[in-house]
Amino acid sequence: MYPSHPVSTSKNPRKSALPLVDTLELAGKRVFLRVDLDAPVENGKIVDDTRIRAALPTIKHCLERGARLILAGHMGRPKGVEPACSLVPAGDAIAGHLKTEILLADDPVGDGPTKLARELRDGQILMLENLRFNEGEEKNDDAFARQLAAFAEIFVNDAFGACHRPFASTTGITTQLKTRAAGFQLAEELDALGRLLAAPKADFVAVLGGTRFADEISLFERMVGRAETIVAGGALGHMFLAAQGKRLGATPIETGHLRTAVELLSAAQKRGVEVLLPVDHLAAERAEADAASIHVPETDIPAGLIALDIGPRTQSAFRGRIEAARTVFWHGALGAAGWSRFATGTHTVGRAAAANDRFAFVLGDDALRAVSETGVGARISHLSTGGAASLEFIEGRDLPGLTALGWKRGT
Ligand code: 3PG
Repeated sequence: MYPSHPVSTSKNPRKSALPLVDTLELAGKRVFLRVDLDAPVENGKIVDDTRIRAALPTIKHCLERGARLILAGHMGRPKGVEPACSLVPAGDAIAGHLKTEILLADDPVGDGPTKLARELRDGQILMLENLRFNEGEEKNDDAFARQLAAFAEIFVNDAFGACHRPFASTTGITTQLKTRAAGFQLAEELDALGRLLAAPKADFVAVLGGTRFADEISLFERMVGRAETIVAGGALGHMFLAAQGKRLGATPIETGHLRTAVELLSAAQKRGVEVLLPVDHLAAERAEADAASIHVPETDIPAGLIALDIGPRTQSAFRGRIEAARTVFWHGALGAAGWSRFATGTHTVGRAAAANDRFAFVLGDDALRAVSETGVGARISHLSTGGAASLEFIEGRDLPGLTALGWKRGT
């Protein structure tokens, strides 16, 4: 069972950079609401409903204003129709939260959903099947976008987590439906990202970890320009230690990226950015959940041992720096956090990010899970549901789904 995360409410929200759904007249109107329902499912049930709950405020708003709601989303990456990727569990979960009935269409487009949409009454919801069941979605096919647009008079996008995809439901549909707005969740995500990227460099601490160095490279480069200190653990920390010539025992190292690791450290040094690295480790002879944890009290790791978590001295140093920060950005686990005996370092970071009153932005499944497991979510400013879309935004890329809504960088 996955823990589900508290839904974030950013402190001190700013004015939205996009027209918001609450500026639209919705009564009696058919509204195509793109939501992010891509949540983990086990045995036909949603097991982490964070994204589902995040979609509720906009859904409720539309219903309260008397809209006829056409809900659309995707789940997984199906190749054609795959029952395991059906949106039925998501529909059930939303219906359960709202205590209302939802009409579920068997297809994303076609005669069935068209008839159901036509018969919708004010305050009723029709949910389309997984948009990715039709290849037109990912191809941003014009005919498919027109079919989606034909369901409604208004387009509302509340799926920040899908905005990095130039698909029919995020971009193509906007060439047809000119009345459009952002939902509350999308606006909140954008607002929090804006705050993060506008934060002063002084006492901005970025905590980066992860399981693959290659995944963190762009983020590290971006943070070098923003943060005063980068706290590096997990795969990133190990690669940097290897780049400094430390011995890491049997810890896997992406040797093809060693030169990049050296260059990143050098770039950070040139910009005066402090990079905090592990000074001790929890290691094991096997990378397995039940392996005996061995404290390695120094940076170098003996032959045969695999680093699986940061050690207590490192935890203390990382915690101190994070607790002293005014702004914290965190992405990636600091070790094998999916295994409880190697999750302490990652949990320590979660508690430290929540410890004082500051702007803390937490992104990515592993960090969010640690926040949830430690029960500190309510004390963290922003828990991002944006996944890869938030990452791309932070990395400086424009997201097609935002551009299609009328957003421009700098607004
Ligand atoms: C996500 O989970 O990040 C979004 O739902 C996007 O999914 P995708 O990477 O399959 O487009």
